[in-house]
Amino acid sequence: MAVFYNEGIKQFVLSTEKTSYIFYVSKTGYIVNLHYGKKLSEKGDYRHLWYSDPVFAPQHEGDVNSKYSLNEMPSEYPAYGSGDYHEAAFGVEFSDGCRLVDTVYESYEILKGTIEPENLPGLSGGDNTLVLTLVDKTTNLKIKLYYCIFEKEDIIARYTIVENTTNEPVIITRALSLNLDLPTSQYDMISFYGYHLEECQLERVRLHHGVQSTGSRRGASGHSHNPAMILASPETDERQGEAYGMALCYSGNFIARAEVDGYGRTRAQIGIHPDDFKWTLSPGESFTTPEAVMTYTDKGLNALSHNFHNVIRNKLGHTKRRDMHRPIVVNNWEATYFDFNEEKILEIIRSCNGLGIDTFVLDDGWFGSEKECRNNDDTSLGDWLVAEQKLPRGLTPLIEECEKQGMQFGLWLEPEMISETSELYRNHPDWAIKKAGRPFCRGRNQLILDITREDVYNYLEERLISLLSENRISYIKWDMNRNMSDAYSSSLPPEKQPEIFHRYILQFYRLLRSITEKFPDLIIEGCAGGGGRFDMGNLYFCPQIWTSDDSEAIERLRIQYGTSMIYPPLSMTAHISACPNHQTNRTTPFETRAAVAMSASFGYELNPLNLPENDREKIASQVKSYRENADLLEKGDFYRLESPFDKPYSAWMFVSEDLKKARVTFVQQLYRPRLRAVVKLQGLDEKARYEVTNEAGEKIGTFGGDELMFAGMSFEPKSDFEAIVYNLKKVRR
Ligand code: GLA
Repeated sequence: MAVFYNEGIKQFVLSTEKTSYIFYVSKTGYIVNLHYGKKLSEKGDYRHLWYSDPVFAPQHEGDVNSKYSLNEMPSEYPAYGSGDYHEAAFGVEFSDGCRLVDTVYESYEILKGTIEPENLPGLSGGDNTLVLTLVDKTTNLKIKLYYCIFEKEDIIARYTIVENTTNEPVIITRALSLNLDLPTSQYDMISFYGYHLEECQLERVRLHHGVQSTGSRRGASGHSHNPAMILASPETDERQGEAYGMALCYSGNFIARAEVDGYGRTRAQIGIHPDDFKWTLSPGESFTTPEAVMTYTDKGLNALSHNFHNVIRNKLGHTKRRDMHRPIVVNNWEATYFDFNEEKILEIIRSCNGLGIDTFVLDDGWFGSEKECRNNDDTSLGDWLVAEQKLPRGLTPLIEECEKQGMQFGLWLEPEMISETSELYRNHPDWAIKKAGRPFCRGRNQLILDITREDVYNYLEERLISLLSENRISYIKWDMNRNMSDAYSSSLPPEKQPEIFHRYILQFYRLLRSITEKFPDLIIEGCAGGGGRFDMGNLYFCPQIWTSDDSEAIERLRIQYGTSMIYPPLSMTAHISACPNHQTNRTTPFETRAAVAMSASFGYELNPLNLPENDREKIASQVKSYRENADLLEKGDFYRLESPFDKPYSAWMFVSEDLKKARVTFVQQLYRPRLRAVVKLQGLDEKARYEVTNEAGEKIGTFGGDELMFAGMSFEPKSDFEAIVYNLKKVRR
């Protein structure tokens, strides 16, 4: 049993294979966190583990002269207004304007299995759930804290349900998903910042006193910061040391923050950003927060990532899609941009003959209306009818040609958007998110559809269903190329305007759920100008996401490295594109582009016919190599070995679960004369011997697992951007 309750001392111990999460209910009914970290016996009494000596810290009635003050107490779900001056996780406004709330323990329940938060994405298939009910005794407002335990993965997923069991409407002013109070501040905060073309860059800084945070107020999780945070001991590296990780299963506005108080205690939180958020609950209604996923390890950052990778691969989203091999895709965006016609696309499809590619994806530019055709990013979003000017015979000839070549057909869509130059906008100017009569912003010349309106939602759902029912489409690239501004919905009453961001995301998920349920074999690749919505919420529906619009291999080293801290390689789409690269103008060897792209969900972003002859000839063998290694690359354990942020090169490896196979990739950034890099491998069987071959199948040698891990493997690149890939096969113990 993952939850152990000691009635006598009112102490709860939540156990995973290697961690414990412990709290107890104080005499005054407050829930005091005692330990989150390495596993402790569930039999112990840990109440001595917190200490406080409240001075200038308000105490409650009944607590005066005792040591209880909410300001001094490691809390489970601190509420605003009752004497805790740190950042609150929860706040409300009652109808008399009172903002005070004081939640105490009422009851608990232990459930078998785990429950996803209602109408929101979440993990499934866990072991047990503990539900704690708290109550604000003055008003009878109830809060339920959910702890979903995944023992094997060392994961606890948390969310909160607020139930308005009072007789008046209540306005929730903040409701974060996770609060974690830690007794010290000896941590570095690792977060992921970036921008369009440069997502998920790693930043690691020492915690300082006060609040440090990342977040988004963009209506999407965004390129700027990823909704995740790691607190790692200063000495923690990839191979050893303590680290806490938290990631939000949500695609909208978020905050991830750590507050270090004057005593050096840390409060870590993640959830919906409290700015731009209010939610009115009528009596009888409830509000569910997104799920936050947390983990702990004392074995370093690779181990922390494994916990996230395993749970994302095995417990997030629909089994069918997440467990299948990922199709190898050719996408025409960088091959043609908007400039194509039927003949050009047919030519690309035909050029895939015999290469072993699974799916051709037709990107932006295929749609329009009678009046206009999407020849640039100015028009047609929302119309979703095939543009006759470009494709006079519709999609059918393309689909048929794909099938003739043994491939399936995929299509780019940006469902949530509307262009002002479109039939849809001409008919429904009020369907866009903006306030009539006020100036408003465009982003990439487009507006966002107000899917919080039922009529807009219904139109969009119907349009997508028709498109997918009328055509044999196996794959969608679901894009989103701007963030929200002018956040106003013509359908919401004044008091519900601050709900628009979250309502939008709920409808986005509702749409994805509806489409994925109706078309269970459809694969949706997420995208938002690359990785502008790379989060667990989106991954629940879209098992892979276009990681960045920067397709260049050397830039991708850092982007994919940072992304891999939380998300498994197979959740990232990475394509080989043409050179000189369209984003950086850099030219890298075809093999290097393959080595980087094949370390994720693999494909091509080019017209094979435009490649130099000797590169084109390599495609079939690359496809073969990916397929042969698909189990290893998609299901194996991924280890970061050398960081492109720290070194002139980068290295990583995959190891199969049975330790029989591994694949090591080394990529030089700029060449350094006489450089010989010695890289210590990880995750192998130290008692076994491994035969090492290169991508051409030539034998390099046979080495002991111990030697490869403890002495290292040496790499001697000869030039800029060179990649060296080794395949390892266990030969004997
Ligand atoms: C976004 C995507 C690209 C491409 C374009 C099409 O930028 O990230 O991959 O699909 O839109 O307009």
